Amino acid sequence: MKPVPPLRLGVNVDHVATLRNARGGALPDPLRAAKLAIAAGADGITAHLREDRRHIRDEDMARLKAEISKPLNFEMAATEEMVAIALKTGPHAVCLVPERREERTTEGGLDVAGQQDALAPVVARLAEAGIRVSLFIAAEPRQIEAAARIGAPVIEIHTGAWCDAVAAGRTGEAEAEWERIRLGAALARAAGLEVHAGHGLDYATAERIAALGEIVELNIGHFLVGEAVFVGLGQAVRTMRAAMDRGRARAAAAP
Ligand code: PXP
Repeated sequence: MKPVPPLRLGVNVDHVATLRNARGGALPDPLRAAKLAIAAGADGITAHLREDRRHIRDEDMARLKAEISKPLNFEMAATEEMVAIALKTGPHAVCLVPERREERTTEGGLDVAGQQDALAPVVARLAEAGIRVSLFIAAEPRQIEAAARIGAPVIEIHTGAWCDAVAAGRTGEAEAEWERIRLGAALARAAGLEVHAGHGLDYATAERIAALGEIVELNIGHFLVGEAVFVGLGQAVRTMRAAMDRGRARAAAAP
């Protein structure tokens, strides 16, 4: 057995807020979901304060920060407004994500290589405040190298294209995307970056990606909130945790 670092589960509560906002009231409460997810085994909570506030609102971020017992991962665009809110909130981590078309690559991640001059000072300001910064990027060597160059300590690999191909049964494309993720995770680790992954993961894809020992955190939201409708959020988180643990056991057993 080779030593493999533990794999953390960050539960994204955005879509609890999506449901709440559909009626405009206070329920369901994303903070209650966050506490329940933590009680069921989540290692942290992720929430994305979008510029259009379509799900999470400013007060949700403040309440999450004040009341949860595990690290808060604040997903946001690299704008002046969001940097100010992040600095005021003081989350454990910030994950910079693209929100506008011009900020993203064709694969859907942040175009770090194309925007490094704009992103480097944002990474530096957040890091100076003691916030761990990650960049949400496709597993492209060009983007990984740019992330390392501008001093981001962490990347989160965008798993959306892989998960979409798996779900649609496009096997060839899914395997090509998997290879890209596998090689990207290894390249990023070799460049000294901490590697996370997320977007579109379900029980099966989370179990498979958990076998990559370079990846130390998965951030999962939409699937868990959907499962919660049928089995409850606590049960969905426990089943996800078990799937990740099975995958991780394979990483440890790999030659
Ligand atoms: N990680 C990042 C950076 C994201 O932007 C998202 C989606 O908000 C997720 C993880 C979670 O994706 P999903 O809701 O599809 O599980």
